[in-house]
Amino acid sequence: MLAVVPPPVTVRAPAKVNLHLAVGDARDDGYHELATIFQALSLTDEVTVSVADEPGLDVTGEGADTVPLDSSNLAWRAARALAEHVGRDPDHLKVRIDIRKSIPVAGGMAGGSADAAATLVGLVNLWRLEMGRDELSGVAATLGSDIPFSLHGGYALGTGRGERLVPVLSRHTFHWVIALASRGLSTPDVFAELDRLRREGSPPRVGGVEPVLEALSSGDPLQLALLLGNDLQAAAVSLRPALRRTLRAGVNAGAVAGMISGSGPSCAFLCTDGDSAVRVAAELSGVGVCRTVRVAHGPVPGARVVSSEDSP
Ligand code: C5P
Repeated sequence: MLAVVPPPVTVRAPAKVNLHLAVGDARDDGYHELATIFQALSLTDEVTVSVADEPGLDVTGEGADTVPLDSSNLAWRAARALAEHVGRDPDHLKVRIDIRKSIPVAGGMAGGSADAAATLVGLVNLWRLEMGRDELSGVAATLGSDIPFSLHGGYALGTGRGERLVPVLSRHTFHWVIALASRGLSTPDVFAELDRLRREGSPPRVGGVEPVLEALSSGDPLQLALLLGNDLQAAAVSLRPALRRTLRAGVNAGAVAGMISGSGPSCAFLCTDGDSAVRVAAELSGVGVCRTVRVAHGPVPGARVVSSEDSP
């Protein structure tokens, strides 16, 4: 009898920006308690998973040469974790994972998390697993704090390490320009720098999430602009002082607000509408304060199958 090989599955997963990121003190396990509002952005990675005799991992696109191809790769770790969860042998995965990146690597936009989330969704389909979103989110949370949100998409309020999510119900779209840096920043380094800054003084802390939630339900970018806040910004700027110039340049180019995305070094500039974002991107790209710029909007869905030969 011939075994039927399932067709490859391609999944698209979004980058994220934290509209509000309140970082508490370090916990005993080294993580920090967060209160954050995530928005999923139209900047996306695509991952194709397929059955293969030999396991394999390939990465192309934005920053591909800096992504590890060994067992430390987060997408590969996601495949192993899912296999273990469903009783498959993680050491004999007959799977190939092809990642096409647009999200910056180590950019503070959850690019690695997007690839892991896309891999999880891809394998659930490839292996025809009966798994609900909550169960998958549980597997995701063991791999990284942002991966549950990469699965969820849209808007969400994240607490705990950022992995405990409550959906935020707003359908309003906001428009962004993202300035990508030439070199990434390590997330643990940025958290450690914040701890250091807090030992030495009292860098300002962002306020509560409620006003930001109100701005999201109003859909008014000018209202949201006044409320964007990120406790990791001071730490990212302390490690990479040139980011100050980038942040200023985006606002000078016409954005209504600029901030560091997550742990940085990507900078996210909020614009009044899509046309304004295109103008800001054009102007900012000529100033020489970043490697390149992207226009994006959010919210968009979380990791979703975009093609499988037998999908409806
Ligand atoms: O969970 P994830 O692997 O994405 O976290 C990467 C690193 O970021 C952690 O090892 C930790 O240093 C830091 N982190 C933190 N507090 C969080 C999330 C991440 O300190 N809530």
